[in-house]
Amino acid sequence: MSVKKLGRGVAVVGAGMSKFGAFPGQSSRDLFVEAFQEMRASVDKGLDPKDIEAFYLGNFSGDLFEGQAHLAPILANWVGLSPIPAVRLEGACASGSVALRDAIMAIASGMYDMVLVAGVEKMTDLPIAQVTDTLATAADVTYEVAAGFTFPGFYASMAAAYMNQYGATPETFMKVGFKNHENGALNEKAQFGARIADVMDSKKRRAEKKGLPMPTWENEMDFLKDDRANPMIAWPMRLFDCSPVSDGAVSLLLVSEGMAKQFTDNPLYIIGSGAASDGALHGRSTFTSIPAAKIAAQKAYEMAGVTPQDVKLAEVHDCFTVAEVLATEDLGFFAAGEGGAAAEEGATARNGLHPINTSGGLKSKGHPVGASGAGQVVEIWKQLRGEAGERQLAGDINLGLTHNVGGTGQTCLVHIFERR
Ligand code: COA
Repeated sequence: MSVKKLGRGVAVVGAGMSKFGAFPGQSSRDLFVEAFQEMRASVDKGLDPKDIEAFYLGNFSGDLFEGQAHLAPILANWVGLSPIPAVRLEGACASGSVALRDAIMAIASGMYDMVLVAGVEKMTDLPIAQVTDTLATAADVTYEVAAGFTFPGFYASMAAAYMNQYGATPETFMKVGFKNHENGALNEKAQFGARIADVMDSKKRRAEKKGLPMPTWENEMDFLKDDRANPMIAWPMRLFDCSPVSDGAVSLLLVSEGMAKQFTDNPLYIIGSGAASDGALHGRSTFTSIPAAKIAAQKAYEMAGVTPQDVKLAEVHDCFTVAEVLATEDLGFFAAGEGGAAAEEGATARNGLHPINTSGGLKSKGHPVGASGAGQVVEIWKQLRGEAGERQLAGDINLGLTHNVGGTGQTCLVHIFERR
């Protein structure tokens, strides 16, 4: 099949997000307003919201998490955008990227010149058992959930398969979590924005205050191997291998390429968009790769006319630490079976050859599922514009990529962004 191209170019000219975390008393509306206002303030040359022509919202399950479906027109109205068309898109944990892709296509087709994209999820009002059940509706209920799996269990199976096939160990995955906490500690929006060393200090202080025996960890890996400090969730995935349950919202402003410079001298051009789908896990030939992610990546690279080696940084879907390792292989940064060792050797750290999840990723920044894909774009926006503060990468950072996975890999999207 021929390489797909956009009918006309599309650019991101504004990006904002709420803090990610657990915010009792704050609804999706409140979080969305926070993200919308930050996006508005980020448009260098100003934005009149009356010029926005359509709204695409990524939201996985407002229905079950908050008892509110049909969120798009409600949120559009809340910030004064009625009567523009407003639609909610659902692709499980990839909902934000699904909304982004549909917005890109709407502008590329000539239908609109300016579109608002957002993602929102409010997960923390429910008890954890209900959150887990709600998330499980993103899997194949007949074949995957009926077999007794929850999301930590699915990814634990992939981790076990990866260890078996390539000789990785649980420490391989721990090092991914360690790195993402180091990055998240430099991100003021992160839910668990503390280095593992800081988590250890705080636990020691708590023990001292309560008169409990002082923990004897000698270093971070000691802490991460401690069953009490870092309990097993689904072997070999422990607490610090899991993304958290989160509330959060993100807002992005997209315009046609020809208009971009009216809003900023520093737009991000969207040069690649790839998407693919798949069935349940049992029908796949492999557990150590997510086939739809590989296809989405290939399509995005082809559209962009770039290779994995051209990408200066990537925000990937690390819902569990093993998922980051698989992503770095599916995206072609490392050969199959080599992503684990590369992570252990520091190749994915901020100063490594392939910096991954400089924002802290879903692990440390948080994972409000419908918002996460759009949230990845915020980090690319900041890094490519040189606005990432203490976590800013050195050098000419002109090409960034996002990789977002829904379910166990049933919905996968990859986007590539360029600063010219
Ligand atoms: N990473 C690190 N620490 C975490 C954490 C995480 N993911 N989740 C919670 N914690 C910490 C809390 O801060 C708290 O610390 P404290 O005791 O020092 O105050 C402690 O762990 C217990 O928190 P709690 O909220 O009671 O945890 P929980 O048992 O309800 O939830 C998980 C923990 C791992 C089960 C939950 O985060 C989870 O289900 N994550 C996966 C979400 C998911 O599947 N998303 C979709 C992916 S596709």
